[in-house]
Amino acid sequence: MTDTPTPRLPHRHLLGIEQLSPADVTAILDRAEDYVALNRARDKKKSTLRGLTQINLFFENSTRTQASFEIAGKRLGADVMNMSVRTSSMSKGETLLDTAATLNAMHPDLIVVRHQHSGAVALLAQKVDASVINAGDGRHEHPTQALLDALTIRRRKGRLHRLTVAICGDVAHSRVARSNMILLGMMENRVRVVSPPTLLPPEIDRYGVEVFHDMEKGLEGADVVMMLRLQQERMEGAFVPSQREYFHRFGLDHRKLACAKPDAIVMHPGPMNRGVEIDALVADDPERSVIGEQVEMGVAVRMAVLELLAEAQGTAA
Ligand code: NCD
Repeated sequence: MTDTPTPRLPHRHLLGIEQLSPADVTAILDRAEDYVALNRARDKKKSTLRGLTQINLFFENSTRTQASFEIAGKRLGADVMNMSVRTSSMSKGETLLDTAATLNAMHPDLIVVRHQHSGAVALLAQKVDASVINAGDGRHEHPTQALLDALTIRRRKGRLHRLTVAICGDVAHSRVARSNMILLGMMENRVRVVSPPTLLPPEIDRYGVEVFHDMEKGLEGADVVMMLRLQQERMEGAFVPSQREYFHRFGLDHRKLACAKPDAIVMHPGPMNRGVEIDALVADDPERSVIGEQVEMGVAVRMAVLELLAEAQGTAA
């Protein structure tokens, strides 16, 4: 009789941080740590996903997330296929579920999905045999972004608990903020959101965060300052008076950053609107900004997630 080892990640899909336990988060980050070193080495290839097919199905534009998942899959030896809506038959009116059925018939093992509607990724996951990873669904969740942020914080601060983290800007439209509020709260950090009232989601009370409408007050004593992009494409009508006024009140410059702890780090998931939510001088400040490191950690975290899901399915080599 052979013993099947208990998978480190007891899940078939990664649809959100909401489904994870603190132990799951730690298991993913610990595995990702191994890949940070591999990614800096000359030979970056492993073969744990050899023979497996990974489809990156992107219904919404993406540069870094798609590239990051593609590199992650290839470094682990999977065959990776990128499919974006503009080139698929979605534009001919095929539904999400028809696309799911078509792809399923090709026997992919891992499907990475980004979609403009909250909940679309979970719906697709019910219709396919593959493991599904949510790469961002509407305003809902973006779990691998929160995990890569967590890895960046843990490496920089030496821990992922009892930190004061200020998440600033367009929280209402941000799946990054939502996934981060859940993850950082679950790991017992003090989470604040700093935003104009018009850019707060109506259900903000659910997250157990402190709400501020003033940057100076919200950043006071923060260990981590996480800036969010003003998501104009998800806004109908005026949520902010003007970009200039927004920068004046909520844009992160060195003057506002001085309210945070002297060693506070500055994060941004990208893409950035320089001069809108963040001053270029802060974004490019090597002493404070960890934005480049977030991108680096993204590949390591996605390798960890792909591999742990394949292990849970018993398909990893
Ligand atoms: C974020 C996203 O798409 O949710 N970007 C990303 O994944 N790097 C944030 C954003 O679009 O502002």
